[in-house]
Amino acid sequence: MKIEYVEKKIKEIEADLELIVVVNKDFKHPFCKKYKETLEEIGFGAAQNETALLPESKKLFVGAKSMDSLDIRPAVATALRSIVHKKYSSVKIATYLGSKCTAALRATAEAAILGTYSFEKFKSKKEKTELKKVYISNEGYLDNSVSTESAQSAVKKGITVAKSVNATRDIVNTPPDDFYPKIFAKSAKELEKYENIKVKVLDDEEIEKEEMNALLAVGRASRHKPKVIHISYKPKKPQAVVSVIGKGLTYDSGGLSLKPSDFMVTMKLDKSGGAAVIGIMQAVSELGLPIEVHGFIGAVENMIGGDAYKPDDVLKAKNGKTIEVRNTDAEGRLVLADVLCYAQQEVKADYIFDMATLTGACVVGVGQYTTGVMGNNKELVEQMLYTGNVSTGELMAHLPFNDYLRKTLKSNIADICNISNTRYGGGITAGLFLDEFIEKKNKEKWLHLDIAGPAFVESEWGENPYGASGAAVRSVTRFIEKITSSK
Ligand code: BES
Ligand code: ZN
Ligand code: ZN
Repeated sequence: MKIEYVEKKIKEIEADLELIVVVNKDFKHPFCKKYKETLEEIGFGAAQNETALLPESKKLFVGAKSMDSLDIRPAVATALRSIVHKKYSSVKIATYLGSKCTAALRATAEAAILGTYSFEKFKSKKEKTELKKVYISNEGYLDNSVSTESAQSAVKKGITVAKSVNATRDIVNTPPDDFYPKIFAKSAKELEKYENIKVKVLDDEEIEKEEMNALLAVGRASRHKPKVIHISYKPKKPQAVVSVIGKGLTYDSGGLSLKPSDFMVTMKLDKSGGAAVIGIMQAVSELGLPIEVHGFIGAVENMIGGDAYKPDDVLKAKNGKTIEVRNTDAEGRLVLADVLCYAQQEVKADYIFDMATLTGACVVGVGQYTTGVMGNNKELVEQMLYTGNVSTGELMAHLPFNDYLRKTLKSNIADICNISNTRYGGGITAGLFLDEFIEKKNKEKWLHLDIAGPAFVESEWGENPYGASGAAVRSVTRFIEKITSSK
């Protein structure tokens, strides 16, 4: 699908359909005045994301609470999703500029790509995508306008990032028998086609040399050997260095602490953090950001078998800390422990972000649509919350660390347990476990994003389809973009 920003009045653009956003239920605006009665007749109330198609008039309506990008993005996405398989091959839409300049314009372009995504690879009969072209007219809903250059650039950024999100979605949606650690490495290698990207893959022998024993233990019972992937993006004269680390469990059966069968379904999602790393690397290169970015993925499968690691085992992580395993289903933190150590050894970064579908407890705490943000640096936490909740529309909530919960990870026989001794605050105790593997000098530079909820939801929500959402790609990319503009 192509998206084009055109400097023509909406009436002058030829398209099969016009998409009109009804802002704040206000039918008095010239764009919708004429259709007010018809729309009322069919019971259209213009609530956020509510859509109505008037085929005879070739108009598609959608409600949005305001012209803020946070409302425009899901509205446009939902509207286009409703007609993507219908007979319309082109749609035109006016420019909706809220208070934040080009933000809503960028969100419109982004929404068109995010909203019309579907994963059809395994369907024998694919639903045809009829929609081929979206025109965004420079004619505005209000009388405010922006320069051609900044409008074009906003649209381009929206398209670029959305495509990277969709690349992440494709990876997460792919079944575990088709996407295992070796394929993860292959997908990462394919990033070398983008500018300034190099990829290094550590196989099991090299992982052993690096003494990443916790990660190796998790992967031992699988027929698919683990891989540790390091993707680097090195532009000329970088202004800062960022490391992004992803949990890449291509399947999480729970291991010997086996998951109940209902809980195992969808556990292909457990590679979402690693898949987000791939999306972010693609985005930063395509945007040409002047920041050096390093992506690390621990690609592992957690299975059962005679060779499986066990509750009661004691593992020695890369940094020498010993871990008493009390539950093999708390495997993500073991993998991340080693990859975090490796990332800190390889790269001296100004920011370290890890992304992981780490705990069901986080989903219980904040709901399935929200990412849990943890760290030692309150300011950094606030910056990430703002980036998600205000700039990109990815919902985020802070889960605060405290020393009482930290103590619940104590082990009687090793340095630390891989689960806490309390059933409460599981999202936070997992974050506190990771903190044990962050070097002292990096404590304030690090954030942990638990994306267990939003990474994969089995129904459509806003700009997200059924299944994988590509959680964290937009926000972490935007955070990196902002480092550029603040320097
Ligand atoms: N991958 C899961 C977490 C998860 C749960 C992600 C639901 C997405 C949806 C993780 O490895 C896990 O199993 N965590 C355990 C930790 C527990 C054993 C302390 C959990 O959350 O139950
Ligand atoms: Zn698990
Ligand atoms: Zn897991």
